[in-house]
Amino acid sequence: MMTLTVKNINRALPTTYSNFLSIENLRLGLDSVYSLPEELKKLRVKKAVIISDKGIERVGMVQHVLELVESAGVQATTFTEIEGEPTFTLLKRAIGFMKEVESKVIIGIGGGSALDVAKATAALADKEYIAPYLSGEETISSRSIKCILLPTTSGTGSEVTMNAIFGDEEQEIKRGIVSKYLLPDLAIIDPYLTRSCPPRVTAASGVDAFTHAIESYVSVNATPLTKMYAEKAMKLFSSNITKAVHNGQNIESRIGMSWVSVLAGVSLANAGVGAVHALAYPLGGKYHIEHGIANALLLPFVFEKVGRTCTEEMAEVAMYLELGDYTTRPHDALKAVVHYLYDLLTTLELPTSLAELGIKEDDLPVLAEQASQIDRLLVNTPYQLNEKSILEIYRKAFQGVLKGGETLC
Ligand SMILES: NC(=O)c1ccc[n+]([C@@H]2O[C@H](COP(=O)([O-])OP(=O)(O)OC[C@H]3O[C@@H](n4cnc5c(N)ncnc54)[C@H](O)[C@@H]3O)[C@@H](O)[C@H]2O)c1
Repeated sequence: MMTLTVKNINRALPTTYSNFLSIENLRLGLDSVYSLPEELKKLRVKKAVIISDKGIERVGMVQHVLELVESAGVQATTFTEIEGEPTFTLLKRAIGFMKEVESKVIIGIGGGSALDVAKATAALADKEYIAPYLSGEETISSRSIKCILLPTTSGTGSEVTMNAIFGDEEQEIKRGIVSKYLLPDLAIIDPYLTRSCPPRVTAASGVDAFTHAIESYVSVNATPLTKMYAEKAMKLFSSNITKAVHNGQNIESRIGMSWVSVLAGVSLANAGVGAVHALAYPLGGKYHIEHGIANALLLPFVFEKVGRTCTEEMAEVAMYLELGDYTTRPHDALKAVVHYLYDLLTTLELPTSLAELGIKEDDLPVLAEQASQIDRLLVNTPYQLNEKSILEIYRKAFQGVLKGGETLC
């Protein structure tokens, strides 16, 4: 049996502690959506704006929420112009709509796209000039409009994070707004709302949540507190993702994935994410590749490099994913984890190369240049990547896995 010395135990402990921020009110449970009228009554408001997207409207969920809002005696107006992942232009439209309606509460229902628009609108619609907040010159430091979020994917974790992500059309890149005022007043997480989520979105947003967990776990800002959340998220991910994708009606796996989204989101909000996200953003900005798909595809290729500097964490991750006990040979754990991440793409029927996504090989240097400038994320990663090493990763991801099971490592 292996004995741990005190020195070993303390090796990874941070010497400073910063604030741990978390949502105040979170309700996760089957049928929890039905608590919405009661919550609105507590707010004593006359009008509410529901923000959602076309897909959610098509499956009838916007109408369902509208009826619940009206049952509380509150007049509801809907903004459902979101199609695809949101841009700053779309956000400005939502803010304009909100200002016209003059409501004091926003209810966001949908995946990360709708939730990001909802929470950013709630935080910005009471401001006279929004440009400095969008450019990042100023940080949002107040919010007077109440915000309730109901996620329908599991997930971006948007329901518990301080971020909202938008496409910047001019610069062809995705950028985040970050402020604690982007945390909602209440998240109502009803796993029943995720049952209609199509397999591809379930897979992509599920692996997105896993990316939050693994990237925040190895982040240079990770603490024992954030690692606790990330560890549980990874364990729940490995036991639920396949069932959720291949049998969306399996409610146990939907409940499991709802927790993955929350736990990984809290870890990401406090420890940050890293290189996978930095490399994914230019793909979203220029090629409009869905965020979860980009993350899922880049994960094995980024970790093949980044994982070399955190072999002990890779052994722990291998254990959480039930890939075996690598405590005495942590260097082998990286290979096992990278293969698991790659195999996930085929198991979950996700694209396996950048070429398959229609990315042009000639564009890879420009993408690498853009990704290398996202210091906010790259500094969180233990392995310091530069433009050259990022381009190497993009080139490998462009080709994807070699046929015949050749190894990546
Ligand atoms: N704020 C954050 O912390 C954070 C973190 C990660 C990602 N994001 C952002 O979130 C966005 C991606 O969100 P997403 O992956 O949840 O996907 P999404 O919100 O873009 O939704 C994808 C598609 O699935 C449909 N859909 C979602 N739930 C459904 C359901 N239950 N039934 C039927 N259809 C459903 C939507 O209508 C949409 O057409 C990106 O813009 C990304 O940048 C935000």
